[in-house]
Amino acid sequence: MERRETAEFYRDIARDLAAKFAPRADRWDKSRSYCWENVADMAAGGVMGMTIPTKYGGKGASYFETVVVVEEIAKACTLSARIVVEANMGGISAVMAYGSEAQRELAAPLVLAGDKPAICITEPGAGSAATEMTTTARQVNGGYVLNGRKHWITGGGVSKLHLVFARVLDGAGEDLGIGGFLVLSDHSTGSVPAGFRVAGREHTLGLCGMPEAELVFQDLFVENDMVLTPPSGFRRGFADLMNAYNSQRVGAGTIAMGVAAGALDHAARYLKERRQFGRPLAEFQGLQWMLADMDAGVHASRLMLHEAAKSRGPDGSLFPDITMAARAKAFASETAVKVVDNALQIFGARGYSDREPLERMYRDVRMFTIGGGTAQILKTQIAGSLLGIKTPQTRTGYAELAQRNWGSE
Ligand code: FAD
Ligand code: COA
Repeated sequence: MERRETAEFYRDIARDLAAKFAPRADRWDKSRSYCWENVADMAAGGVMGMTIPTKYGGKGASYFETVVVVEEIAKACTLSARIVVEANMGGISAVMAYGSEAQRELAAPLVLAGDKPAICITEPGAGSAATEMTTTARQVNGGYVLNGRKHWITGGGVSKLHLVFARVLDGAGEDLGIGGFLVLSDHSTGSVPAGFRVAGREHTLGLCGMPEAELVFQDLFVENDMVLTPPSGFRRGFADLMNAYNSQRVGAGTIAMGVAAGALDHAARYLKERRQFGRPLAEFQGLQWMLADMDAGVHASRLMLHEAAKSRGPDGSLFPDITMAARAKAFASETAVKVVDNALQIFGARGYSDREPLERMYRDVRMFTIGGGTAQILKTQIAGSLLGIKTPQTRTGYAELAQRNWGSE
């Protein structure tokens, strides 16, 4: 029987962490450095790997409890919130759900000690069209040989555990579907497997302390016992792995909402502080209405995210429902961009400077309509579910769909 703490218990821990993180957030942004000090605090506070079952040393916390933590931390430090998400959702969830006993025992202590696993799906030529990935894992004696490039990998160069999505080929080169491959590396000690290399880091608009890296696999050997075999096999491997990824989408949407909630708090404070025309800004009705709209956006996002975090997909899935996760992430991320923009506007010129955290939040929050499935791709999934039709995005796939559903003109 898992030990149960309440969401309020976790929220208090997260608020204490956030109070420590707020004054440090600028440091990671300006120096473009990973927040190891915060990671140590989060591991000590028990939020790294809080969703890991108690049997493996975690807290067995739910996704709902996790998003409560993520929101509080995101108000203060977007970077740390991303680490909490990836230490509890996505890659680590896939390992805990689909992994062998040995894989769980390997992954859990790493994350509990502070590792943020990296999930490696995107490639230079396969972003939204993730199923067009060309990284291959060819079956050989005792394991698989990985070849290819992954791009925009969050934590590349600092993460130890990597879950790499790759197209599985049998010995004869036949395509068997998509599988997950666990790769361990430790760049701090130089313990990096032969055939694995961090090729470069992006210079990003926001979230500057987080490396977004290109990873190269060149004849990297992965033993059989490091293959994360999806429950329905490689043929349905992509769907199974993405099913686990739906949890990370809820996490990403929550970060965006948390940043927006933080920006709303700053805006409300400043409206009372700043005086123009002999009155506090708070007395101007135009700004009051702006604040009310921002509040409604944050509140609606939170409700959708909590609903998605508590949901489960069909057939006894362990993970959030695909449509609820897509709806919550698309809505929360687009709303958060607008809310943070309005908060910055309320600060006038001061908001445009680094005297306030608004300019950093504005840069940070912009990412969430892109990373983890763009708003457009998520809306395509939602529309498909509403219309009850699968909408392939390739030209040939769409032509077949049109022919099947609507016939030729
Ligand atoms: P593209 O797919 O080239 O899309 C460009 C534009 O076209 C977008 O606006 C998109 O919405 C639109 N578009 C494309 N296809 C369609 C369509 N069919 N209908 C309508 N519009 C369409 N990936 C990982 O695997 N692991 C990570 O850890 C990771 N971290 C990331 C961190 C950051 C900061 C960022 C920015 C990205 C990260 N990504 C990661 C990659 C991310 O998932 C991709 O950026 C995303 O899936 C979109 O791919 P793309 O950037 O190649 O855009
Ligand atoms: N959850 C569960 N299953 C999913 C899923 C999700 N989030 N996304 C796709 N699937 C399933 C589909 O239902 C489909 O299963 P089916 O064969 O039973 O119908 C299978 O995976 C393939 O998906 P499909 O929609 O046919 O793929 P596509 O070739 O049209 O490609 C996607 C579209 C899925 C790649 C695109 O919608 C997408 O999600 N792109 C963003 C990728 C992303 O989030 N990257 C983040 C990197 S961190």
